[in-house]
Amino acid sequence: MSETQGYSRAQIALHWGIFALMGVSFFSHEGMKEAFRAALKGEEAGGAAAVVHRLVGIAILILALARIVLRLRRGAPALPPGGHPLLSLAAKVTHLALYALMIAIPASGMAAWLGASRDIGEVHETLFGLLFVLVGLHVVAALFHQFVLKDGLMQRMKRPG
Ligand code: HEM
Ligand code: HEM
Repeated sequence: MSETQGYSRAQIALHWGIFALMGVSFFSHEGMKEAFRAALKGEEAGGAAAVVHRLVGIAILILALARIVLRLRRGAPALPPGGHPLLSLAAKVTHLALYALMIAIPASGMAAWLGASRDIGEVHETLFGLLFVLVGLHVVAALFHQFVLKDGLMQRMKRPG
């Protein structure tokens, strides 16, 4: 994988854009659950929140695919030097898992909805739980870099390089 001086403007916009859209998906999930329960019972499955949940989720899927293509083509900056090899490995594994979840979560949501499958719905929910934990770790790591290591890592996701 190629290494660059920094993330591009598009990579940074996609990182924060997807973060914001994930928030919208999260805050619309109650309406989606209600609509899903109704649909499984063969009832009318309306509600604006449910529509927002599906449309925003599909937008995330498309943007995440674009982000992965960019990442494969352009690469990413190397991790700051001097970090413990195990922590560097943890960062790489977490980033990889976050990319995978950005695809698997909306894909499983669509499969649950289109296939009216309660089981796939469970998978969708479990994957979201995993994302929640990993994003929590990711944010703690970012704060650790910002306030303890003070190595300017956060700047890399703010200013294109
Ligand atoms: C990255 C995008 C998405 C996120 C972050 C997300 C997140 C969530 C969350 C947090 C829940 C509730 C989980 C719970 O209560 O434990 C949920 C439920 C659900 N979502 Fe999504 N979702 C996304 C995309 C989609 C898409 C694209 C669709 C369909 C087109 C979809 C369909 C559903 C369905 C059917 C449920 C109800 C599942 C059930 O009750 O078993 N989601 N989603
Ligand atoms: C407040 C929330 C967040 C903060 C403060 C944050 C911060 C950062 C920072 C500073 C980097 C750069 C790491 C480096 O230069 O090596 C980064 C990379 C990354 N972030 Fe976040 N992030 C947040 C939310 C998210 C969310 C919600 C996701 C996924 C859904 C995500 C996925 C990623 C991925 C996959 C990378 C690796 C990019 C690459 O090297 O290809 N982040 N984040």
